[in-house]
Amino acid sequence: SSRGILKDKKVIVTAGGTREPIDPVRFVGNRSSGKMGYAIAKAAAKMGANVVLISGPVSLPTPQGVRRIDVETAAAMRDAVLSEYDDSNIVIKAAAVADYRPKQAAVHKIKKTGDSLVLELEKNPDILSELGQHKQKQVLVGFAAETQDLLLHAQEKLTRKNLDMIVANDVTLPGAGFNTDTNIAKLIFRDGHIEDLPLMSKDEVALVILNKVSQLL
Ligand code: C5P
Repeated sequence: SSRGILKDKKVIVTAGGTREPIDPVRFVGNRSSGKMGYAIAKAAAKMGANVVLISGPVSLPTPQGVRRIDVETAAAMRDAVLSEYDDSNIVIKAAAVADYRPKQAAVHKIKKTGDSLVLELEKNPDILSELGQHKQKQVLVGFAAETQDLLLHAQEKLTRKNLDMIVANDVTLPGAGFNTDTNIAKLIFRDGHIEDLPLMSKDEVALVILNKVSQLL
């Protein structure tokens, strides 16, 4: 049994998608449901960890025994993660962080005056890369949702972001997409080892991820 294997460990989990404001009533967002991250937070708490769940807007209940911090933007998620990072042992970044945000959020609602509208976007900070650069004792786990060249892109992220493990999934496969309760994941490690998981519930995938992480501690 995995009960108690994360006792006295502080685990940060990020989940859900970020929202980047266009004006007071609109945002740039994505299809993340938060289900994978919430499943990990719930399982980590059951394994005895001190869990902080940093969450974008989702419609899921907070798992038992988990401390939840709600955020909307990538910038707010970054602040929350960095403020919890120093004394953490494990960080699992399941959130779908927006890569770009509107350069300027309009103060008032944008009116439909023109036939077209151009939104200028600027790059958001890459939170996980920043964590990788300042890594002390932490085990860092990232996610890679891809639609092509899954292993290539995932391995490149593992190296570039200085991660210990990356969970790769091809979101074009049935049962691996955004709002599903299942996932088909590959776990990739620094030594090049790859673990191919079959179609599983997100709860089961969470258990496998946390068992692997506990071995990396
Ligand atoms: O978006 P990308 O494929 O690079 O995401 C890979 C990993 O990096 C994910 O774990 C995601 O949560 C994280 N990420 C982040 N900050 C960003 C973009 C991605 O922490 N701005």
